[in-house]
Amino acid sequence: MKKIIHVVGARPNFMKAAPVLAEMGNFPDQFESLLVHTGQHYDANMSKVFFDELGLPEPDVYLGVGSDSHARQTARIMIEFEEILQKHRPDLVSVVGDVNSTLACALTAAKLGVPVAHVEAGLRSFDRTMPEEINRILTDHASDFLFTTETSGNENLEKEGISLSKVHFVGNVMIDSLVRLLPVAQRRWEQAWAAIGASSAEDYVLVTLHRPANVDDLETLGEILEALRRIAADHRVVFPVHPRTRSRIQQLGSPDLDGNLLLSTPLGYLDFMALMSRASLILTDSGGIQEETTYLKIPCLTVRPNTERPITITQGTNQLVAANAEALVEKASEALTSRSVQDTEIPALWDGKAAQRIVDVLRQKWPA
Ligand code: UD1
Repeated sequence: MKKIIHVVGARPNFMKAAPVLAEMGNFPDQFESLLVHTGQHYDANMSKVFFDELGLPEPDVYLGVGSDSHARQTARIMIEFEEILQKHRPDLVSVVGDVNSTLACALTAAKLGVPVAHVEAGLRSFDRTMPEEINRILTDHASDFLFTTETSGNENLEKEGISLSKVHFVGNVMIDSLVRLLPVAQRRWEQAWAAIGASSAEDYVLVTLHRPANVDDLETLGEILEALRRIAADHRVVFPVHPRTRSRIQQLGSPDLDGNLLLSTPLGYLDFMALMSRASLILTDSGGIQEETTYLKIPCLTVRPNTERPITITQGTNQLVAANAEALVEKASEALTSRSVQDTEIPALWDGKAAQRIVDVLRQKWPA
């Protein structure tokens, strides 16, 4: 019997860890799973709602680290997680994605000689000003099993000198959750609109923004909000606002938002999937949404100068756009008039079975 500690911490981790935990649960004679939640995200609408909707079990351990500077948040997770590792002595720590909790726990485990699996390894934006890029690189170099979502990941890891014997191209666990729950989400259409406090619309643009590069600089945020106001002249714009972004919007004063630009609190997983699945266009700076829109074949404009997920551009529906009002309005208008995303493809192995492949690799390593 192998003891596996699964780590989650922030919103984009939950839909990635859920399928792996569920799949391991199918082999109770081989694996014992413990779930550790660092508490990097702690508001109910950033955390608990995802546990409920994804069917994640209650965490066995909740570290409750909360928000802080990068060093203090990362350090606090490491101090707490080291004690958990010493107490439970797992055979493997499984981390997902690229948030501070991912790196903190991978590094702590590696230092204690506990093998690490990194789910969503190898992605690179080549932009070290992004905190996530540092997290990705260091997590990968501390890991023993590197599970990639697209083949660019294998190439990046090889170039960095990581032995390909550790790298397994398994597909995308985030898409596993989407495939499983999309039918449930689509039955919640009216509820999703009720959650943002509006009646349903057929033509709408869905927006998410939370990257420090876009929202911490008030001039940049002002440009993006100006673009949203202009897009809202002709289309309804729905914008569930991340807590980081909300506090910055408040610093800008209360921008004169017209009735067609709807700001709401962050949505749960199912409500957001429901709205995403029928949107005319998504405007975002999220990593995961670039992938989910590619799967759903919904046009996506990513407000960033680069992406660590190039397949969403070469095969999918994603395009990069600069954070200025003119560029955003122009690209949005192009995307909304042409709507020609039929030629896009769903990337290889984004088929709902990535977690199965991950667990297969681990079962081969540790046969029953
Ligand atoms: C983090 C991740 C980012 C991910 C994002 C998804 C890092 C470095 N960043 O960014 O990769 O895309 O999560 O949401 O790990 N806050 C709340 N309630 C919460 C959590 C946060 O109000 O439940 C507020 C706090 O004011 C906090 C701020 O949001 O200071 C930022 O939270 P933090 O976890 O540091 O980074 P995110 O911007 O959420």
